[in-house]
Amino acid sequence: MAENNQTLISNFLLLGLPIKPEHNHLFYATFLAMYLVTVLGNLLIIVLILLDSHLHTPMYLFLSNLSLSDLCFSSVTIPKLLQNMKSQVPSIPYAGCLTQMYFFLFFGDLESFLLLVMAYDRYVAICFPLHYTSIMSAKLCVCLVMLSWVLTTFHSLLHTLLLTRLSFCENNMIPHFFCDLSALVKLACSDTHVNELVIFIMGGLILVIPFLLIVMSYARIFTSTLKVPSAQGIYKAFSTCGSHLSVVSLFYGTSSALYLCPSSNNSPMKETVMALMYTVVTPMLNPFIYSLRNRDMHGTLRRALCKK
Ligand SMILES: *[C@@H]1O[C@H](CO)[C@@H](O)[C@H](O)[C@H]1NC(C)=O
Repeated sequence: MAENNQTLISNFLLLGLPIKPEHNHLFYATFLAMYLVTVLGNLLIIVLILLDSHLHTPMYLFLSNLSLSDLCFSSVTIPKLLQNMKSQVPSIPYAGCLTQMYFFLFFGDLESFLLLVMAYDRYVAICFPLHYTSIMSAKLCVCLVMLSWVLTTFHSLLHTLLLTRLSFCENNMIPHFFCDLSALVKLACSDTHVNELVIFIMGGLILVIPFLLIVMSYARIFTSTLKVPSAQGIYKAFSTCGSHLSVVSLFYGTSSALYLCPSSNNSPMKETVMALMYTVVTPMLNPFIYSLRNRDMHGTLRRALCKK
């Protein structure tokens, strides 16, 4: 088998998107536009929250953390994708590939934890309104954000270190548009059982537990608003929780489908479309869904524009 041919490779080829060459320009323009919208939308939110001291509350500070993480998450993959769509040989060096994978996991996990922290914040605000300020103290907020950073660093470092143990033989073609962990593990020619086990266990912990906690906290929010029904309260709960839940399901649904069922019956086409959903679409939608529909943000934006 491949064991005989242990010429270690120094470059990978990213095969990119399964699209026809004549559609390349169209997709290039679409991804460029989506990336610009992501960067500008998220930057706008970070700047607005930073400038307006009325918005220095836990909810908005978490939001600006989420925007920062979205911005970095899409910058890990999309610029490289755009560059590769224009180049003849879409190669990436081994170290570059591991770096991309590390930061992809890091910001992906960070996003997962921040969505959980934000759901907890809304849960406390709606179910314990009188104790909100004492529970969500500045100290707890900083601790939650720090804890998210520590856990994501640990998790992405673990996968990256485990990946450096693998050897890659003559096949260096990654059928994906970025250095995806499971695609790299499939490519390796040494034993990958440990990696697969760790991916499965950690994927379960990092994706499934936050997802269940988020769903539980929104369920509590629903039931507590239904207990004291007022048309306005119900409308507000459904409109905010509904849109949050749709982003959350899009992010967790597609990423857990990919990580927990890394089976061979998934066609590369299906996998790429699902990966595009959580790498390109959710970071773009998050700012719009979480904040630009929000009245306080509208006020801040109006004040910022009128000052000019
Ligand atoms: C992230 O959240 C922490 C804690 O609430 C806050 O102190 C910090 O300013 C936020 N960072 C950004 C970039 O918004």
